[in-house]
Amino acid sequence: MIKPKIFLSLLFLILPILGGTGFAIAEEGEIPLDKAPIDLTDLPSLQRGAKLFMNMCSGCHSLKYIRYSTMAKDIGIVDAKGQILEQVIKDNLIFNGGKITDTIQTAMNKAEGEAWFGIAPPDLSLVARSRGADWLYTYLRSFYLDAKKPWGVNNTVFPDVAMPDVLFNLRSRLYAEKEGKEKFDGAILDIVNFLQYAGEPIQQTRKQLGIWVLLFLAIFFVFAYLLKREYWKDVH
Ligand code: HEC
Repeated sequence: MIKPKIFLSLLFLILPILGGTGFAIAEEGEIPLDKAPIDLTDLPSLQRGAKLFMNMCSGCHSLKYIRYSTMAKDIGIVDAKGQILEQVIKDNLIFNGGKITDTIQTAMNKAEGEAWFGIAPPDLSLVARSRGADWLYTYLRSFYLDAKKPWGVNNTVFPDVAMPDVLFNLRSRLYAEKEGKEKFDGAILDIVNFLQYAGEPIQQTRKQLGIWVLLFLAIFFVFAYLLKREYWKDVH
């Protein structure tokens, strides 16, 4: 017979889990999201994503918690010795005259943004964390024509969005090619991958560090166990 106290604590343990899944299902039930197969170890994808972001998004959106130099190191824009390729970054990724040690700012100021769009384009440093990669992947591929909207477009996962369809040209160009849809989806995945990285630049390092910590604990356990045996030998 299970004791009431234990039963209650089990219940309190399980309830939030049940509540959590219920919430997720309800939320996803509205609009199904496409799965974004992101991979933060895929450096070429992160580099392509950074380039696309700087070219197509940074005119309106900032990534104010990251410096160009940190990003360059993290996504592998470095030479064989690990030195940052400063000129490559200046020529290809910095469009607002900033320095390599600056954070990634947008050329647009808040007041302009509000005047043009009714709402200033938000900073996207944490958007992968608040919205999730699947949402971003679906959102960027879900603009559709809607003559009633100021920019002539709307979005299935973000109804009445104030952002214009800035991917229109890229999509039109790629769709004209063979396997255009796959190429476009691939480009969007690169952007989402990059935004996921931007959401927590330290995450790769943390995972690698985690493995060493676990390894340390495993080895430490062996010694602790041997020591315990040594001490208790005399007690028994
Ligand atoms: C011409 C300016 C402009 C450009 C360029 C632009 N955006 Fe936006 N974006 C906006 C505005 C304005 C909003 C606010 C929309 C709203 O809240 O209705 C927005 C919102 C967003 C959001 C939703 C943020 C949230 O959680 O509410 C995401 C994600 C986003 N943009 C991603 C991008 C990406 C990725 C690019 C580049 C491919 C990009 N944007 C390019 C203007 C722009």
